[in-house]
Amino acid sequence: MAGFKSFFILILTVSAGLLAILWRDNFDFEHKKYTQQVLLKSRLLTKKLLTGSRVLLTGASRGIGEQMAYHYARFGAELVITARNETRLKQVAEKCLELGAKKVYSYPVDMSLPMNPELVVQFALEKLGSLDYLVLNHIGYDPFQMWNGNAENVSWLMQVNFLSYVRLTAAAFPTLIKNNGSIVVISSLCGKLAIPYAASYSASKFALDGFFTSLRHELALQGRNVSITLCILGMIDTDSTMEKVKTMNIRMMVSPASESALAIIKGGAVRAREIYYPWWIALTVSVRDWFPEMRDKVIRSSFAGKSKEDGG
Ligand SMILES: NC(=O)c1ccc[n+]([C@@H]2O[C@H](COP(=O)([O-])OP(=O)(O)OC[C@H]3O[C@@H](n4cnc5c(N)ncnc54)[C@H](OP(=O)(O)O)[C@@H]3O)[C@@H](O)[C@H]2O)c1
Ligand SMILES: *[C@@H]1O[C@H](CO)[C@@H](O)[C@H](O)[C@H]1NC(C)=O
Ligand SMILES: *[C@@H]1O[C@H](CO)[C@@H](O)[C@H](O)[C@H]1NC(C)=O
Ligand SMILES: *[C@@H]1O[C@H](CO)[C@@H](O)[C@H](O)[C@H]1NC(C)=O
Ligand SMILES: *[C@@H]1O[C@H](CO)[C@@H](O)[C@H](O)[C@H]1NC(C)=O
Repeated sequence: MAGFKSFFILILTVSAGLLAILWRDNFDFEHKKYTQQVLLKSRLLTKKLLTGSRVLLTGASRGIGEQMAYHYARFGAELVITARNETRLKQVAEKCLELGAKKVYSYPVDMSLPMNPELVVQFALEKLGSLDYLVLNHIGYDPFQMWNGNAENVSWLMQVNFLSYVRLTAAAFPTLIKNNGSIVVISSLCGKLAIPYAASYSASKFALDGFFTSLRHELALQGRNVSITLCILGMIDTDSTMEKVKTMNIRMMVSPASESALAIIKGGAVRAREIYYPWWIALTVSVRDWFPEMRDKVIRSSFAGKSKEDGG
């Protein structure tokens, strides 16, 4: 009887997890209400923790990074922002000052070049003197397509999405250790659960999980007080993602960039080890390995429309 009961609970949880993968609009309202309540409660605490803190934020010219810059600014942080597009960075920096940032400096670089991460950290240390937060968010352009067999493309994306994160961390490590600082790493559901049409992207996000989770252990073993917050995001309504979604034949729940940015910042400020946004994708991740064959069937069938389009 007990066995049957736990099996039933198991099935219920799995179904909930799988439904969550495909979940749609009717759930949206409740979920928004929930996250807003949580976020409101933590706003005061976050403000206390972030006022005057020194933040280096990458990929801040648009998307979630731009929204994070605005939230840090509202909380009174000092910022160095980076991305490639100088014009956009300047516009974001101006708006940050209007919103209440103490200081904002922008530094345009391309993270696919291996020497640039260190230059960015040097610039940040020159301008701010020290760092409390290293927020790693940028990603290279990567169309939602089947792997074309080109290893160079994978290598390039690993450089932008993964190795540059490692180099930024290496350069900022001494100052973060000195300040009991924080590293905030933006990842994705695709970094916990692989889907088709995103092999390189998924690889880079799994790599981040492996590297930074191992590093978190090592810091704890050394008694070093640097927090690492890995942020697992579902689909967010940034321009670049909405552009990619157009080519997909599936409907998925999309969450707002500004709210996701706030959830990330709050998670970093309270030194959480991982955050999930929207919250229910944690459920999907927790049941990931229970019924792998069923899971893979569900994933493939939800992308079947796209594969016909591609002719394979
Ligand atoms: N949006 C989603 O649905 C979603 C879902 C899960 C996870 N995430 C994660 O959230 C983070 C932000 O995503 P997003 O949707 O906001 O991305 P986005 O809108 O495409 O923005 C990417 C940022 O990275 C910068 N960037 C691109 N190539 C670069 C390069 N070679 N060197 C330096 N900077 C570069 C871009 O600025 P420039 O073009 O000016 O360089 C931009 O500021 C990423 O880590 C992503 O994996 C997003
Ligand atoms: C940079 O951003 C500006 C302002 O949005 C845009 O007009 C310009 O085309 C962008 N430059 C590049 C190289 O993408
Ligand atoms: C893939 O690599 C080829 C050759 O290096 C390059 O021309 C192309 O722009 C790359 N595509 C992407 C999406 O990175
Ligand atoms: C860092 O934390 C330790 C306790 O872990 C504390 O003694 C020290 O003063 C803190 N340093 C700074 C710069 O906050
Ligand atoms: C680590 O540093 C943070 C921020 O300075 C501080 O709040 C926390 O108490 C420290 N933790 C330990 C275990 O020293």
